[in-house]
Amino acid sequence: MTPPRVRIAPSILSADFAALGAAIAAVEQGGADLIHVDVMDGHFVPNITIGPPVVKSLKRVARVPLDVHLMITDPDRYAEAFVEAGADMLSVHVEVLPHLHRTITFIKSLGIQAGVVLNPSTPVALLEDIAGDVDFVLIMSVNPGFGGQKFIPKSLQKVGAVRALLDRAGNRAPIEIDGGIDRSNIAQAAAAGVDIFVAGSAIFHSADPAAATRALKDAATAVAS
Ligand code: DX5
Ligand code: ZN
Repeated sequence: MTPPRVRIAPSILSADFAALGAAIAAVEQGGADLIHVDVMDGHFVPNITIGPPVVKSLKRVARVPLDVHLMITDPDRYAEAFVEAGADMLSVHVEVLPHLHRTITFIKSLGIQAGVVLNPSTPVALLEDIAGDVDFVLIMSVNPGFGGQKFIPKSLQKVGAVRALLDRAGNRAPIEIDGGIDRSNIAQAAAAGVDIFVAGSAIFHSADPAAATRALKDAATAVAS
């Protein structure tokens, strides 16, 4: 089945870690298409978050696919463990992978979707020779490491450049954006060509995460359809 053009991926990084099951249920009720899981190792980024055992528990309660974003220095070492734990989509940062083609091929061989992530300072050109191979591209619109940061507007130019690169490679892979997405900028991101919208604090720091998910999805869908 083809997924809808607009997908919302609430990031549980901003949820109450003592009540992740309830957080997931709430955003699913609001129409979440994916659950975005931020994995941080204290090396690639300063923060430390969660590992495969937590992903395994999330998988037991989530009804929508898990979109696992690895912000770690050695994704090759841990990719398989996250897939075994239940990741349906796994994204890796190009900044730490000299053998990106091998990593992407390996993740796909495990039967899930492989994505590549670009930091705000990383040029789109680094994807030139891998554009035909990726299942999705994640563009960071903040520097990774923490929720609640300010959106970097220049990221939207990158969306167009990545779309053009993928199209040239004949790849209709979706583009995901992550960082500082809220009601004030989601329509612009949709207009720029984003397909999958990660939002953490805009959803989980609101009084009603289900309603916030729905509102973001409606705002993006209005532009994209
Ligand atoms: C940042 C993470 C994001 C984060 C987004 O390093 O990759 O997924 O949770 O949170 P907000 O939406 O608050 O910027
Ligand atoms: Zn993320």
